[in-house]
Amino acid sequence: MRRAGRLTAEALDLLMEATVPGVTTEALDRLAYTFAMDHGAYPASLFYRGYPKSICTSINHVVCHGIPNDKPLREGDIVNLDICLILDGWHGDSSRMAYVGEVPRKAARLCEITYEALMRGIAAVRPGGSTNDIGRAIQAYAEAERCSVVRDFCGHGLGRSYHDAPTILHYVEPSYDVRLRPGQFFTVEPMINLGRPAVKVLSDGWTAVTRDRSLSAQFEHTVAVTETGVEIFTLSPKGMHQPVDIGM
Ligand code: MF3
Ligand code: CO
Repeated sequence: MRRAGRLTAEALDLLMEATVPGVTTEALDRLAYTFAMDHGAYPASLFYRGYPKSICTSINHVVCHGIPNDKPLREGDIVNLDICLILDGWHGDSSRMAYVGEVPRKAARLCEITYEALMRGIAAVRPGGSTNDIGRAIQAYAEAERCSVVRDFCGHGLGRSYHDAPTILHYVEPSYDVRLRPGQFFTVEPMINLGRPAVKVLSDGWTAVTRDRSLSAQFEHTVAVTETGVEIFTLSPKGMHQPVDIGM
């Protein structure tokens, strides 16, 4: 899991650097596929339940599962780059927000809030704790910042498989609470909207957008519950996680 996570993070470092005005998400997808092949890895999303690409590229009001295409990115876009690499049978799943050139202040603020929400959720992971500790930390912070937490997509257990138990909700749900134990692997991947939480899936069957067309952002790490707390497997070797600090 450490090696799969590190390779996934290296792929994201490469993709982040390549995300500039004029580049197509199709070109980023090709870069990701080539990187995976060059490193003996396979992109988990490719042909997963009919998904056609190696990464998801979710721009502006796209919440998640945006499909790479030949439309160039434009200055001011915010784009989530999501990749899961399988290395020696183990999955590393991570996503980050990239700024395309200079972005509007409200977009940068949303990305910073979403990154902070992810890290607060991860900080709530401890053996003997429970999944609602994660959701509570994320929801309390995001809503205090007058943003909303998407309900329709969640984090997930992973390891030898891509999607496994437990489900990780990014909000509090008293009717679902799983005890955290050392050795569990899962993702934390909050999607945070500037407007309302409701989403709809477009007719391609994948692209999820905010119903009110408000901006949406997401960050994702793969983590493990340890004897003493939490370990993050998908940390950037280049320290490229957080978007440029604009100072909220
Ligand atoms: N990051 C998403 C996840 O954690 C990506 C889904 S890939 C897709 O599952 F193939 F389902 F689109
Ligand atoms: Co995931």
